[in-house]
Amino acid sequence: MSLELQTELLGHTLQSPLILGSGPLSYSADGIIRAHRAGFGAVTTKTIRDETAINPFPHIALSGKDTMINAEKWSDLPAEQWIEEEIPEAKKSGVTLICSIGHTPEEVKHWIVPVDKAGADIIELVSYLPETIVPMTVKAKELTTRPVIVKLSPNWHDPVGMAKAVLEAGADGITAMDSVGPVLRIDIRTARPMVGGERGYGWLTGSAIKPIVLRYVAEIAALSNKPIIGMGGIMTAEDVIEMFMVGATHVGLCTAPILRGLEYIGKLHRGIARLLNDLGYVALADVRGVALKNLPQKEIADKFNFKFDRDACNSCMRCVQVCPYQARALSKDLEMELNEDLCRYCGLCTTVCKPGALRGEFT
Ligand SMILES: Cc1cc2nc3c(=O)[nH]c(=O)nc-3n(C[C@H](O)[C@H](O)[C@H](O)COP(=O)(O)O)c2cc1C
Ligand code: SF4
Ligand code: SF4
Repeated sequence: MSLELQTELLGHTLQSPLILGSGPLSYSADGIIRAHRAGFGAVTTKTIRDETAINPFPHIALSGKDTMINAEKWSDLPAEQWIEEEIPEAKKSGVTLICSIGHTPEEVKHWIVPVDKAGADIIELVSYLPETIVPMTVKAKELTTRPVIVKLSPNWHDPVGMAKAVLEAGADGITAMDSVGPVLRIDIRTARPMVGGERGYGWLTGSAIKPIVLRYVAEIAALSNKPIIGMGGIMTAEDVIEMFMVGATHVGLCTAPILRGLEYIGKLHRGIARLLNDLGYVALADVRGVALKNLPQKEIADKFNFKFDRDACNSCMRCVQVCPYQARALSKDLEMELNEDLCRYCGLCTTVCKPGALRGEFT
């Protein structure tokens, strides 16, 4: 089972729709080249700014399965070093390079032309402050002919409104999204915060943020046909398909390759091929946006029907345990019993069944 991975992004042919997001793995040319060789379709640099970042200690921690909290800032290398050494060196590998520039229009003015000349294929703009992102987009479009992607923050008041505004200002695509925060975790052995940011605050990435990102990607997909890099909590092949189903054209990853290693990308490619085949799709492009028509404009007022596959059931009893109303029972001879008077059709039992033996289906 092989998957046609090659894809287009703003005039560039990518070896894969999986893009390495800006973060510690793309700290320099070395990291970028490793990611390119591991199979990423494009690699985004750590964010380039006027000042080099001085990060608090510690600044990255695991926060539950497949989720991290970080207080890491932008690049700790000077912009001049990116321009003179890291970008030209990285480009020798053949990587499609997205150069991240933050966080103000002045910094765009300082760095976009030299970054462009050094070999950037695409520019990504990022900011912590929503009021800077439209002026940054306008400035970038004025100064470069390279495609300009704008990265949105889920921490802004109205990310979809900002997507609309930057698209109107000429952005060629959207990356959705940055880390979610500020948030707090405490190490209970020391009673200290898990990361050393101001007030112990950090920003969440990985699995925990995926539903937030899915919601925004679905809304942004309705705004235009421009590329959307869906990024946030992509850990598995299922996550990739889900992000495409709400309208992403590419997916970005940062936490997954940190926690699972760069070699995980090959496994992910094979997993996507298998899953597409199981679901009856030929290519990832066929999946794009297929869920959007199923997002109801109004609440669903009709009950679903339960479907129980006795042969697939492994008697784990999860569906019985989680029912808040004690409505479900599994008899010794594997008959699934439902007390219709108690069942409120909340749906929870159907979502905890790992083998898919109990499902809710709409007619
Ligand atoms: C340790 C760390 C450092 C990051 N640094 C940057 C950065 O410099 N610039 C940026 O735009 N995003 C940065 N990000 C955000 C990621 O690019 C990405 O948007 C976020 O992690 C969500 O994707 P994920 O759930 O796949 O990790 C960083 C994320 C992490 C975990
Ligand atoms: S749908 Fe909800 S209420 Fe009904 S059996 Fe399942 S968990 Fe219980
Ligand atoms: S959760 Fe699924 S596998 Fe487990 S008992 Fe219920 S139906 Fe069977």
